[in-house]
Amino acid sequence: MPLPAPLLETRLDGLPPHRQGKVRDIFDLGDTLLLVATDRISAFDYVLGSGIPDKGKVLTQLSAFWFDRTTQIVSNHVLATDVARYPAELRRHADVLSGRSMLVRKTNPVPIECVARGYLSGSGWKEYVASRSVCGVPLPEGLRESDRLPEPIFTPATKATTGHDVNVSEAEAGRHVGTELVARLRELTLALYQFGAAQAESCGIILADTKYEFGHTDAGELILIDEVMTPDSSRYWPKDEYRPGGPQPSFDKQYVRDYLEQIRWNKQPPVPSLPDDVVMRTRDKYLEAFRRLTGKELA
Ligand SMILES: Nc1ncnc2c1ncn2[C@@H]1O[C@H](COP(=O)(O)OP(=O)(O)OP(=O)(O)O)[C@@H](O)[C@H]1O
Ligand SMILES: [Mg+2]
Repeated sequence: MPLPAPLLETRLDGLPPHRQGKVRDIFDLGDTLLLVATDRISAFDYVLGSGIPDKGKVLTQLSAFWFDRTTQIVSNHVLATDVARYPAELRRHADVLSGRSMLVRKTNPVPIECVARGYLSGSGWKEYVASRSVCGVPLPEGLRESDRLPEPIFTPATKATTGHDVNVSEAEAGRHVGTELVARLRELTLALYQFGAAQAESCGIILADTKYEFGHTDAGELILIDEVMTPDSSRYWPKDEYRPGGPQPSFDKQYVRDYLEQIRWNKQPPVPSLPDDVVMRTRDKYLEAFRRLTGKELA
């Protein structure tokens, strides 16, 4: 069966989004935002030349799944995911928006990336090698790359307007946004991670780490925003292939990374496009993650 064409950019009545992230297009509707997850895929901080058909649907529907299941822990920004419940002028665009968009409350985002880590990987591993600690949290000697931590840790990062996010200590984060707020962010982040990691584990998937974002409503309420525990905001590892002592295969982007290594891309523009078989296998991985975590088929 031929694959559906990837959605690479959203236009509504010919109008481009007010903002574009690497993956999501954002339309500002006044009090609300319309978040549209496209099929763009990034690797090594660049959006690649090919999209992965339905990836945006996986991200949106997986976020919706987690938002729905974590309301006991914290309220969130979701107003509607069903286009039939969108304002009339958006309902006309159901063909583009269905299954990959979310109407959300517009908030004032807290400028801290709230990262929870249950395993030692990525920038956490690099920091550990250099200092035996991550974001000021001291860790035991002798841990290997990808080892499970004695307990999950909160490792905030400041949102850099350009380039990479910068890991900071809780004290430093407190100086940015206030220590009381950081204490609350830590508590929510660890509770969300604990919930998500346990659910993923029961599906044979390790949630090694993940990042949450929070925002304040006009009424001053702190709510969960952005995307939640998607493959783009998390490291998911297949549990049956878990071998600490080195990097783990990425659940979703492994074929993409392997291909980019194989062609020896120098990680500078121009960005490569992906061959069809890499696109297809990557799409299968995103769909598999969705099915395994939710027990549902993509809508
Ligand atoms: N309810 C909300 N209120 C206000 N801003 C929000 C809300 N939900 C998400 N956002 C913001 O919308 C943006 C989502 O876009 P996206 O994640 O695609 O791009 P980005 O995070 O800016 O960049 P990147 O490409 O590195 O991911 C984020 O900046 C996020 O903070
Ligand atoms: Mg983002």
